[in-house]
Amino acid sequence: MRYGYFDDVRREYVITTPQTPLPWINYLGSQDFFTLVSNTAGGYSFYRDARLRRLTRYRYNNCPLDSEGFHIYIKDGDCVWNPGWQPTQTALDRYSCRHGLGYTVIEGEKNAVSVRQEMFVPQGDNCLLLRVTVSNQADAAKSLRLFPYLEFCLWDAMDDGSNFQRNFSTGEVEAAGAAIYHKTEYRERRDHYAVFWSNREPAAFDTARESFIGVYGSPARPRAVLEDGCANSVAHGWQPIAAQQFDLELQPGRSESFLFGLGYIENPQSEKWVAPGVINKARAEAMMARYATDAQFDAAMEMLAGFWAELLSGFKVSTGDEKLDRMVNTWNQYQCMVTFNMSRSASYFESGMGRGMGFRDSCQDLLGFVHMIPERARERILDIAATQFPDGSAYHQYQPLTKKGNLDVGSGFNDDPLWLIAGADAYLRETGDWSILDESVPFDNDASLAQPLMEHLRRSFTYTATHLGSHGLPLIGRADWNDCLNLNCFSERPGESFQITGPSEGPVAESVFIAGMFVKYGRAYTDICRHLGLTREAEACEKAIAAVEAAALDAGWDGAWFRRAFDAYGNVVGGKECEEGQIFIEPQGMCVMAGIGKESGQAAKALKSVEERLDTKYGIVLLQPAYTRYRLELGEISSYPPGYKENAGIFCHNNPWIVCAEAELGHGDRAFQVYRRTAPAYIEEISEIHRTEPYVYSQMIAGKDAPSFGEGKNSWLTGTAAWTFLSISQAILGVKPCLDGLRVDPCIPASMKGFTVSRRFRGAVYQISVENPDGVQRGVKALYVNGDPVPDGVIPVQSAGSTVSVRVVMG
Ligand code: BGC
Ligand code: NOJ
Repeated sequence: MRYGYFDDVRREYVITTPQTPLPWINYLGSQDFFTLVSNTAGGYSFYRDARLRRLTRYRYNNCPLDSEGFHIYIKDGDCVWNPGWQPTQTALDRYSCRHGLGYTVIEGEKNAVSVRQEMFVPQGDNCLLLRVTVSNQADAAKSLRLFPYLEFCLWDAMDDGSNFQRNFSTGEVEAAGAAIYHKTEYRERRDHYAVFWSNREPAAFDTARESFIGVYGSPARPRAVLEDGCANSVAHGWQPIAAQQFDLELQPGRSESFLFGLGYIENPQSEKWVAPGVINKARAEAMMARYATDAQFDAAMEMLAGFWAELLSGFKVSTGDEKLDRMVNTWNQYQCMVTFNMSRSASYFESGMGRGMGFRDSCQDLLGFVHMIPERARERILDIAATQFPDGSAYHQYQPLTKKGNLDVGSGFNDDPLWLIAGADAYLRETGDWSILDESVPFDNDASLAQPLMEHLRRSFTYTATHLGSHGLPLIGRADWNDCLNLNCFSERPGESFQITGPSEGPVAESVFIAGMFVKYGRAYTDICRHLGLTREAEACEKAIAAVEAAALDAGWDGAWFRRAFDAYGNVVGGKECEEGQIFIEPQGMCVMAGIGKESGQAAKALKSVEERLDTKYGIVLLQPAYTRYRLELGEISSYPPGYKENAGIFCHNNPWIVCAEAELGHGDRAFQVYRRTAPAYIEEISEIHRTEPYVYSQMIAGKDAPSFGEGKNSWLTGTAAWTFLSISQAILGVKPCLDGLRVDPCIPASMKGFTVSRRFRGAVYQISVENPDGVQRGVKALYVNGDPVPDGVIPVQSAGSTVSVRVVMG
């Protein structure tokens, strides 16, 4: 069942009922100011850091769900309603929500009044803009009241949700004209405030929640709306809000628009006040003046549209399969931008208070983002590298506002260092900007320890090379990619961290997955060394890699698939002798992507085992059989009920690893089958089962052992976005940036007769047309650039500004 449809021309997902299985959201903003908005106008805003600079409040596990946001109330006689249905839930005569690229438009109609609510964050500014257009479709004039309403958060979202003894006394606002200023804590150390404004003078306003809603009222039945209007309340402590009241008489056939904004303003310390207790509003007034008219609003929206059109023009495919095209050309890349910006911090599943930016997550996000805005990718790589420790290991996460590593979940996740090589390598291949390797970057954010980025990569490599266990495989540390495989942590008490209780690092537990990474990204590092003329270093690296590869094929091999790990007692994890958890997806994907066992046939065997043991109709589960009881020696993975999350859920992130691995072996049919099973556009029809948004990936789909098999959770912020973009663009469609040029080597289903791709690469545009006359899955018979044959399959870098036509004949 569907709850809407894709509008491919406008690049929108159009939701046709407010009662989607879960709130279906969009992200507005792509630089510093962000808003999450759902299809019923729920959501929240923040500046840069969803924990430390939260502008509006959100209660994730509220009931009813998704009650806080950017709601507009309409009072038409006795009928009170919202264009987005929530929070009053008054039945609408017509409803739609269009989630587009960086904007959302919600339209509702009731009793011949229609209201259109447009929302977006303008480019280069720190505010959310809303335009509400009210139209009277009736034959008679209408007397209406309109109220916008939002609830401020007292900045630090964690403190806001817990420290009530203080916070119920600190709230402060100023109301001036058509604006409401939220200035809690501005009197002391803060130099920032929030402002909500409208472009018209309201009839009245409220800034105290209990005045607008009523002490025992609810957003579904706000006192001011149901009774006699706003009361010009001024909040002193408690819960500051912004609500305004507009009274309008609308003649039949007439429309009126109202422009609203929510801005974030910083003032230098010396310019905070204009009079004792009166904040300096100059910057806010300038912001309001930038968006005071419909023409200004429209111009800002056009600028946003231009930004996205330009961004997405860098990779455009036409395959004849509309689902594939819409995923690749729009939604997958859009999600890559969101994950790049948010890492795993703020969504409807990530509270924005916990994790900050993840070292491994952000490195992987680069893989799907680097082609869009390489300059931002460059900056990110340097930021991440600056949180690395001098020995090559890393803080597991860092705070976006301060860019400093935090030890909330410690360090010593032994896959982390190698992801830095993955990110830097992707950047080099995309841009050819070798100067990044010379950038001086601190270790542990300490400038006195700064070294060139190349030295950071070297230490990443060396860290793994020097942290091997008794089988010659890399030590796992606290965990590797699978945060829940905690082989050195033995947590027995509820509430303890699975990762950082006890020593958490040990000299015995090894990871076959990191072995795969070391071979794959170690080779990438070796190529970089060779390119720089560091031949001796490259040779030494190759030796170290060969030894780990041999260990993976020997101690890491179980007979028909790669083992997962050795635990702290030296016992096999992910082998046939295990009672549960006999086979895991991760080492099969990573080792085969690295080419391990390709020649010996072990790679093909491993992928066959995946197909036989881990496949389901909704995707590939992470492991089988699922763990049915808690296992102290394995940790969090066994804490989940069977079929959920890392315990045999369909973890979407590592499905594309299998796509890439299958493509590595030339299996185009199978690669595309795996791709399709989790790709949102292909499962739109089962939205009632999948439940999360049909336009973006979720982290996890419940596996076959779960009662809710097929149900998605944790949508948006997942490494799945970057990895699926990589798998479809590079492994299947085969357009691969290399250090010396662009390779085109597709691995497609035999039934696919051809496709075209327009790819921007280092400033030139490559118009690629692929023909598959013999219906093969892999193989390039001939490749021509502007009609001239290119012998080795790598198109040399073309001059910036040029457009070349590339013809690829498979066979
Ligand atoms: C989740 C993992 C996640 C980790 C982050 C765990 O509870 O299951 O998916 O990586 O938390 O710390
Ligand atoms: C989500 C985390 O963000 C990521 O870092 C981790 O690799 C996966 N879960 C698997 O545990």
